[in-house]
Amino acid sequence: MTDDELKAFEQVGLDFQIKGSRLLIVDDDSDHVNQLENLLKAEGFTNYTSTLDPEQGLTMVFSDEPDLILLDLHLPDITGANFLKHLRADPNRFPFLPVLIMTDDTSHETRRHALASGANDILVKPFDAIEVLLRVQNLLEVKRLNHKIEKHSEELEVLVGIRTAELEHTRLEVLERLAIAAEYRDDDTRDHTRRVGHSASLMAQAMGLTPFEVDTLRRASPLHDLGKIGVPDSVLLKPGRLTEEEFEIIKTHSKIGAEILEGSEYHLLEMAKDIAIAHHEKFDGTGYPNGLKGEAIPLPARIVSVADVFDALTHERCYKPAWPLEDAVTEIVSQSGKQFDPNVVEAFVKLAEQHRVVI
Ligand SMILES: [Fe+2]
Repeated sequence: MTDDELKAFEQVGLDFQIKGSRLLIVDDDSDHVNQLENLLKAEGFTNYTSTLDPEQGLTMVFSDEPDLILLDLHLPDITGANFLKHLRADPNRFPFLPVLIMTDDTSHETRRHALASGANDILVKPFDAIEVLLRVQNLLEVKRLNHKIEKHSEELEVLVGIRTAELEHTRLEVLERLAIAAEYRDDDTRDHTRRVGHSASLMAQAMGLTPFEVDTLRRASPLHDLGKIGVPDSVLLKPGRLTEEEFEIIKTHSKIGAEILEGSEYHLLEMAKDIAIAHHEKFDGTGYPNGLKGEAIPLPARIVSVADVFDALTHERCYKPAWPLEDAVTEIVSQSGKQFDPNVVEAFVKLAEQHRVVI
């Protein structure tokens, strides 16, 4: 390199990071290899290897994972184009590995073919030292920027994941607190909704629903009585038997709950709406508000129906004492095919036999 060339190159400059890049030279001409190695060494590159054998070169790419390959286009046995073909066979394996083709063939066709085969730039022999270094620098800089963008994308992905999880957590927490608000007036322990959710999810699991549906049901079922918000205290908290008229008012909580929950695209809220509207329907068609029968009642509502009644039976209410566990199980079984779906009752009995019912 002449003094003028050196001066010109120093104006461009190579930073420390680029000089530490891993370079691989694949060229069957040992004179060219020596020339390149001397050039790189003189410019402070410390991490370069070379091979005269293209097959070995390919092996070295996979084992050493260089930052840049300087590849002779006319190699014995395997052409530079075929070398590139192997290298680019899996686009995900080396997505940002630049290849600088070296050739003494200056035809447009050769250049086009090399670029189309996956080369990133072309150097024409005999080499111009500054051009070699500038092209090496450019390609390494592009690789570094690609790596930076990739890293940034990964960081963004992680951040989006964290924010999405936070949003989901907040959304679920709001729903839990909504369920507590609905229950607060007639169960200040707030435990009824939690127990119903837990029981319903155990039954759903025993019936073979997917883990996603089981989890959704666990979170949706505590909202089954949300419509109680619209029922006056004088009726909701009345001790003793309700009059026919008062019972009609109580029954409105199914529709009120469904009206509050309907219209959402959120699967959990759609399920919660189905449960709210139908958890007092009966399998034999004698329930309310729509007198739905059998499988016309959404499955989540059929499951919550059993969980809700069982929990009401086994706990004290202002109008009745708590029933013993065995009596409550007997009552549920006696309503199989009448009030309750026999398949749900079967799952419930299995849980009861395993002492897994929630009380
Ligand atoms: Fe209810």
